[in-house]
Amino acid sequence: MTYRLSDEQIELRRIVRELAEEQIAPRAAEIDATAEFPWDLKELLARQDLLGTAVPAAYGGTELDGVGQAIVAEEIARADATTSLIPIVQKLGSLPILLAGSDEQKDRFLPRLASGEWLAAFGLSEASAGSDVSALRTRARRDGDDYLLSGSKRFITHGSIANLVIIFALTDPSAGGRKGMSAFIVERDTPGFSAPRVEHKMGIRGSPTAELLLEDARVPAANRLGEEGEGFKIAMATLDRSRVAIAAQAVGIAQGATDYALAYAAQREQFGEPVAELQGIQFMLADMASQTEAARHLTYAAAAAVDAGAPDLAYLTSSAKLVAGDTAMRVTTDAVQVLGGYGFITEYPVERMMRDAKITQLYEGTQQIQRLVIARQLLRRAGVARSKTS
Ligand code: CAA
Repeated sequence: MTYRLSDEQIELRRIVRELAEEQIAPRAAEIDATAEFPWDLKELLARQDLLGTAVPAAYGGTELDGVGQAIVAEEIARADATTSLIPIVQKLGSLPILLAGSDEQKDRFLPRLASGEWLAAFGLSEASAGSDVSALRTRARRDGDDYLLSGSKRFITHGSIANLVIIFALTDPSAGGRKGMSAFIVERDTPGFSAPRVEHKMGIRGSPTAELLLEDARVPAANRLGEEGEGFKIAMATLDRSRVAIAAQAVGIAQGATDYALAYAAQREQFGEPVAELQGIQFMLADMASQTEAARHLTYAAAAAVDAGAPDLAYLTSSAKLVAGDTAMRVTTDAVQVLGGYGFITEYPVERMMRDAKITQLYEGTQQIQRLVIARQLLRRAGVARSKTS
């Protein structure tokens, strides 16, 4: 095994970096200030075939390997975290179909997601069921050839703009969330389905985070993913794989902050010399760079484990998300410190990067949930716990 990126992956990074620097970075401050979804950048990414990177070529995708997908998320996040969520959430919403969809469902939905004609979202969390997925209350009652879905979802990234949302709902409440939950593809124009509210947020402000309402929304049984009762496992299998994209986003945010702080330190003069000549600043920059590099390599290892279908892939993807999220928070906070007072004002991008970094410690499972997943795998390997994770 050669431990280096392939020439194609290096070229992919160069192309996406150029695109992000020229067309995405100049929009980042405005997207943050207006909190408006960048539809033009969604079109740009669709035109560049960057929204179907996780989708097989047979369904119109570009079928990049896991490291390639991570490079795309990372390079876009280096310029703007909000925009990086466009391919990341497209993958999150496509994964349940890829993992559990029938051939007919894949034919019906994947080409539209791969081309970017449709956006997808992942409707799992509820007001009282965030970390504790099994506590969800949304119901799905069978009615002839359909199901009637009722309940509400919260914190759904792109929920208000997605053309389809994967909704998790109880088909058998008596069996509880772990055994009685099923997954459904809910199309936006379904009567009874709405997104009444979008949250005001600290970071990733251009990415709409919606509350969803299901009022006897009629969903055809043909849109159920897998069998009744398989919803919890579909959700877990999706998150085991999608968390690596959040790790990549965090690495990109950290790299963007490191690069900006380095360039700033090289030109900002104090005490008669660039502050980059001061050892105190050099040590900070060295920590930022090396920690980002460490997070990057763990992220790529996790992405490769997903491709290989490794039995311990959740151990690696949760580790990557944990390490990269914490790295992004630490590195962006240090970037603000390197810029001093200028780091604290909105004229400079590092305070936005610091606000954006925070979400990587929260969504797709908090850092505490990642530790729980990692610890369960550790105990399982040591033979001291019942089987809890894949
Ligand atoms: N793969 C396959 N099966 C799994 C699994 C996995 N990763 N994890 C658990 N299971 C199985 C278990 O083996 C068990 O099966 P049996 O009953 O047959 O033994 C069953 O599922 C129940 O498992 P647990 O008892 O471990 O379940 P739990 O209730 O303790 O929950 C958890 C486990 C890891 C804490 C889970 O609830 C979890 O991941 N919580 C975090 C949720 C999360 O990440 N939400 C993010 C929402 S999406 C988002 O943020 C995206 C966005 O908008 C951008």
